[in-house]
Amino acid sequence: MKAVAVTPGTPDSVHLEEIEKPSLDQIPDGMGVLVRVLKVGVDATDREINEALYGNAPEGDSHLVIGHESFGIVEAVGENVKRVKPGDFVTATVRRPGGSIYDLIGTNDMTSEEEYYERGINLRHGYLTEYFVDEEEYIVRVPQGLKHLHVLMEPMSCAAKAVHQAYEAQQRMKVWRPKVAYVLGAGQIGLLTTLVLKLRGLEVFTLARGQAPNLKAEIVAGLEGTYVSTRETSMGELVKKTGKPDLIVDATGSSRLAFESMQHLGLNGVIVWTGITGGDSKVEVPADNINLQWVLGNKLLLGSVNANRTHFEMGIRDLALGEMMFPGVLGKILTNPVDGLDNYAEMMRLLVEDKDALKVYVNVAEE
Ligand code: BGC
Ligand code: ZN
Repeated sequence: MKAVAVTPGTPDSVHLEEIEKPSLDQIPDGMGVLVRVLKVGVDATDREINEALYGNAPEGDSHLVIGHESFGIVEAVGENVKRVKPGDFVTATVRRPGGSIYDLIGTNDMTSEEEYYERGINLRHGYLTEYFVDEEEYIVRVPQGLKHLHVLMEPMSCAAKAVHQAYEAQQRMKVWRPKVAYVLGAGQIGLLTTLVLKLRGLEVFTLARGQAPNLKAEIVAGLEGTYVSTRETSMGELVKKTGKPDLIVDATGSSRLAFESMQHLGLNGVIVWTGITGGDSKVEVPADNINLQWVLGNKLLLGSVNANRTHFEMGIRDLALGEMMFPGVLGKILTNPVDGLDNYAEMMRLLVEDKDALKVYVNVAEE
């Protein structure tokens, strides 16, 4: 069967690879789930893997099948599988366990080992192919009523984790009732984070470069957030209007903005960084001032990567609630379909060149 793969270490090596169709007996104890892939989303991670900035092939292979945002339909299950059955729509988590205590308790996203295993990203093949097989543990059911949001499940799990981590960490405050949040960036993670925070009752300001009217502004407004173009209003100017935010989630992919946000957080607040910045840019920051404000204000900076099964389930619940509250809004994120694995070059072109492509995904097969 066909798969879209790269040769890690070689820039711009994306190509079609012929691989073997997986089978249930690759998974021990009758716990396997065979999934027929319907759609796969791609993001900046896939672009940067193709730029050879990171990404490694599984041991013994020279290619890495990419794609970590999966959506498919269960084709067959092992005899001990309980959670899903043939015909169910599903997605799959990305990270697989290493050997740390966090991996052993199902929180692979929090591994304390330097080496991590991620399907489609690092040391494990991804989902941009026709079928994949995995253990039931890593397969998450997608409700029938959410199938039109297909490839958003994985990005949503990252947004759900980022916000959940902030609330978990803020238990240090005994009482924490955040009112104002800034979401930096209106890409898929920024928009989905806007939803998660609106559902928690916060006043949300989503900051991005582009001036309204545009699609991102329309989606933010549809979620009842406030879109702010940083071309018109800087973060500092916004603070003058709203007061310092209790929570900032950075999803810009810009380390400069991630650091800049440190000057604007409110007392006892928390910043969550979610951007994966593959470059090595340097910035100058007002270090004394940040250090001072940070200490005097008991502020917290948190990094959040990936997501485990629990976060997928939280994210799916929030997507369902989001569809009830703001019908039809979330689907607008899904801007750029590409038909068929054969069109991998167009897929990569959209990721590299089309700045308006909010979400690129591949229609792999019909239901
Ligand atoms: C993926 C995460 C992954 C991270 C780091 C992101 O694009 O969505 O699942 O952990 O990249 O590799
Ligand atoms: Zn991703």
